[in-house]
Amino acid sequence: MIEASDGLEGVIAAHTVLSEVDGEAGRLVIRGLSLSELAGVRSYEWTARRLWDGFFEALPEDLTGPLGQARLEVWSEVAALDGPLARRETLEIVRALLARLADGEDLATALRLLAAPAVFTAAAIRARRGEAAVAPDPRLSQAADFLRMLHGAPANPAQVDALEAYLVTVIDHGLNASTFAARVAASTRAGLTSAAIAGLCALKGPLHGGAPGPVIEMLDAIGTPDNARPWLEGALARGERLMGFGHRIYRVRDPRADALKAAVRRLMRAQNTPGGRLHLAEAVEDAALAILAERKPDRSLATNVEFYTALLLGGLGLPAEAFTCLFAAGRMAGWIAHAREQVLTGRLIRPQSLYVGPALERVAFGRSPPGASQRAQGL
Ligand code: ACO
Repeated sequence: MIEASDGLEGVIAAHTVLSEVDGEAGRLVIRGLSLSELAGVRSYEWTARRLWDGFFEALPEDLTGPLGQARLEVWSEVAALDGPLARRETLEIVRALLARLADGEDLATALRLLAAPAVFTAAAIRARRGEAAVAPDPRLSQAADFLRMLHGAPANPAQVDALEAYLVTVIDHGLNASTFAARVAASTRAGLTSAAIAGLCALKGPLHGGAPGPVIEMLDAIGTPDNARPWLEGALARGERLMGFGHRIYRVRDPRADALKAAVRRLMRAQNTPGGRLHLAEAVEDAALAILAERKPDRSLATNVEFYTALLLGGLGLPAEAFTCLFAAGRMAGWIAHAREQVLTGRLIRPQSLYVGPALERVAFGRSPPGASQRAQGL
């Protein structure tokens, strides 16, 4: 008797050396280091290299230079960002430009994929505003260069530190939906680019990486701390979910929420805007946690990574509709590491479904049952 698990909850579908998510303790470990030893401490390039160690031949000690060169290589694809494409959502533009990159399993392909979201997202946001794209500077870190390409001027150290902390915080997170999608594609030997695009497509939805844009809309709609409880209760009464809360694995607070809250606090202090949205966000968070605890006493629903992502990326001047692209820019290193791990150590991923459709029809000899020809074609 085969038992089905909806949403694959509780199913272990891979062995990994990359990251461990402990949902009971609220702990994230990335290749033997806790998130608190990485976020705000290590660079994105350093953390990506740690993830990729052992998965590529001749991996350089420092990825900063090779990644800068890779940004220059993918920059030529920005020329394809023509009028009709520039009117699409930022994520759709990035997805279209990513699809122009060749597939492969080698380090050069991996570096181009790691570089691409930063170059394409900055160009896409500018194109949507009718502004010309800014070429990469290969000498800079990915975080510093992204902000420079986005704003057309060098970012200050506090802004670079905040983005660096964000990219590191979201770099990998066990077998989340987008990483699983990337591993499924990789398991067929489709190649790293195909795996990364599969990951991006799964990330896009609001139940996964698409939540931070709606978080900002929620904060804007609430407006003042006093309005938090009535607004949130109204949203739940309409059957809506509160964006930035709840998680499949965490039964306690997502540790990434605290890493990002600390980064937001540092950024706002450096920018001399200590209160602002952070004050409102804290009031909304408190009210949401209290209401969710009242309404769902059996299900522990706590703050997830997306809540403070919205504040951090908004504080860096990103438009809300582009937030998910920055999530992809960070998670790309994880998708690539998982895709390589799947190819090197895994098997084809091919689960089964439990058929709950109509029973087999009795077929009179020589006569086809209705719809038989369609079924035969419907492989
Ligand atoms: N607001 C209100 N109710 C919620 C929320 C929420 N944020 N999250 C879960 N619930 C409720 C569900 O309605 C459900 O109630 P029911 O049993 O009465 O139907 C119950 O809690 C269990 O929810 P599930 O859907 O079974 O939880 P699941 O593990 O499948 O979903 C998810 C996790 C998708 C993150 C969910 O909590 C959610 O929709 N959150 C809001 C969107 C969000 O923040 N997404 C980003 C997640 S972080 C990330 O992916 C990077």
